[in-house]
Amino acid sequence: MAALRRLPSLTRPFRLLAIESSADDSCASIVTSDRRILSNVVVKQHLIHEKLGGIHPIKAQDAHARNIPLAIRTALQEANLLAADIDAYAFTQGPGMYGCLSCGSHAANAMAGMMDKPIVGVHHMQAHALTPLLTESEPPQFPFLNLLVSGGHTLLVLATGETQFKILAKSLDDSIGDAFDKTAKTLQIPWLPGLGPGPSLEAYALPHPTDENITSATDRYLAEIPKFKVAVPRQMAFSFAGLKTQVLKATTKFFPNLQLKKGMPEGLKRAVARRFQEAAITQLEQKVRMGLDYLENGEGKALVQGQPIRAVIASGGVASNQYLRQRLAATLKQRNPDSPKRLVYPPVALCTDNAAMIAWAGILKLRRQNGVSDPFGPLLRPKWSLEALEEQRPQESEPMPPPEVSIVKD
Ligand code: KG4
Ligand code: ZN
Repeated sequence: MAALRRLPSLTRPFRLLAIESSADDSCASIVTSDRRILSNVVVKQHLIHEKLGGIHPIKAQDAHARNIPLAIRTALQEANLLAADIDAYAFTQGPGMYGCLSCGSHAANAMAGMMDKPIVGVHHMQAHALTPLLTESEPPQFPFLNLLVSGGHTLLVLATGETQFKILAKSLDDSIGDAFDKTAKTLQIPWLPGLGPGPSLEAYALPHPTDENITSATDRYLAEIPKFKVAVPRQMAFSFAGLKTQVLKATTKFFPNLQLKKGMPEGLKRAVARRFQEAAITQLEQKVRMGLDYLENGEGKALVQGQPIRAVIASGGVASNQYLRQRLAATLKQRNPDSPKRLVYPPVALCTDNAAMIAWAGILKLRRQNGVSDPFGPLLRPKWSLEALEEQRPQESEPMPPPEVSIVKD
């Protein structure tokens, strides 16, 4: 078997091109090992999926096949580089939709094979968690508490090292991103240009000049619906299914014609959206507080051997929500008014899915492997726990037979 490719040097800065394709965005980015993002390209597909009410797996795969070459080409152009200038490749190995992941994997493996360069597979949520190590001028130190809030996941995680993650809490049902998306749909909130349902709901929930005219009617109506409850209040676990249902019930009880796109006044919809957002974000805030108490004053102390938690990091698409950011800042200040714990987010553009985060996690992985490549085609892991980053996928204990290469002449 041929020796695995490796970077000739880890001391000289190197450039890595990464591909992210775990869901419906086709992303390519070039990042240097000295933390410069040379290009970061996202080709969205939501015009394809918006009318279907969710990501259609085959259509997403077809769109990736078309969009990934475009994303790669644009990433090279934006960075003013040629393929020969790239020293290594990375791609999202999991978790995500199998067909979508395989498009990015095929593209990255083909490029690495063609250029004879190392390649590594990356865990999508680890990449979200470690993004501030790329973007902060003073990278946060371990151990930190990570709130990972996206369309696929709602996790509260203790990170004690680049590959050491302990999941403290996850959602018992839906993710918070899904709750934002479904609530935007229930309330028929129009999507802002270039944005999906989550950020559109956030913008919609902001106070609006015309709301004043209907304040008393809104108040009367809101007084009749129960305040949305925060789920599982005494546990760290998250839950959003109940909240989604509470919004649905509140709207259809009073406005049964909403399905026919009639009924609910804008100001009222805005007030319900605001109430939803408040309840959803209050839940995140409460669980972060519980997580810190558990790790610093409770049984979780053993997990960090009594060390203080150096920062709270919120990442993933929902972490771009400004209301969440305000609420977390207020909580940390309230917990410790004199020196609140450091609160860190990636810049908004790097909260939602992107390939710069995959590139950075890939660079860290290559360093940990002393520059040595993964084998070609590291097996995809559509389901992959953050706690099992180093474990092999079970099927790998029965390896594929070696490739049979024939050089055909005449
Ligand atoms: O991390 P991400 O881009 O993709 C996944 O890995 O799932 O997260 C996407 C999710 C979607 O549900 C989207 O609506 C939500 O993040 N999102 C937001 C905001 N921006 C994105 N939710 C609330 N407020 C936002 N500003
Ligand atoms: Zn994501």
